Amino acid sequence: MGNNVIVLDHPLIQHKLTLLRDKSTGSKEFRELLDEIAMLMAYEVTRDLPLKEVEIETPVGKARSRVISGKKLAVIAILRAGLGMTDGILRLVPAAKVGHIGLYRDPDTLRPVDYYCKLPGDIQERDVILVDPMLATGGSADEAIKLLEQKGARSIKLMCLIASREGIEYINHQHPDVPIYTAAIDEKLNEHGYIVPGLGDAGDRLFGTK
Ligand code: URA
Repeated sequence: MGNNVIVLDHPLIQHKLTLLRDKSTGSKEFRELLDEIAMLMAYEVTRDLPLKEVEIETPVGKARSRVISGKKLAVIAILRAGLGMTDGILRLVPAAKVGHIGLYRDPDTLRPVDYYCKLPGDIQERDVILVDPMLATGGSADEAIKLLEQKGARSIKLMCLIASREGIEYINHQHPDVPIYTAAIDEKLNEHGYIVPGLGDAGDRLFGTK
């Protein structure tokens, strides 16, 4: 197993993830749970943001207190399931800019091809949190990271919900400098590239499509 992976095993995250995995959970509840988990995960993913001291005045006197310093954040969602994680993160870091990357799988090469990429103009000056709930083969995340790097992004964290061992190993190999934050690591992929046991198709469950 690659060593650049952080499993966020907070009890609240694990409890909500169990509800999310359950096939009887409908789209409304799925959306709400994914949103809540993304917010809880963002708390951990932003744990190493640098702070600086400032002087403020409380109603009682002067105080030196800390605020976030350094680069600003960008949340980049891989379409379409990544959309389900952006709002939860933005609730904690409302000043973050949001970008979108759309990928489809070429039926001949089976490689992901980008059909849409809209990023904040100052992406090279921002710390990036790339979001996609399911890290399966790692092909989409690999492509998205390459795109981000081509556009000048230098500091990228990958945040997913469930990762396969294969996907983690692939991303660790291709991008050893990109830490992976996940709520769970699942055993394997099936013949259709779905994570087992996973939660099914995250996009379909989120948007009620099939
Ligand atoms: N994408 C999904 O939505 N689910 C999987 O299990 C794998 C990829």
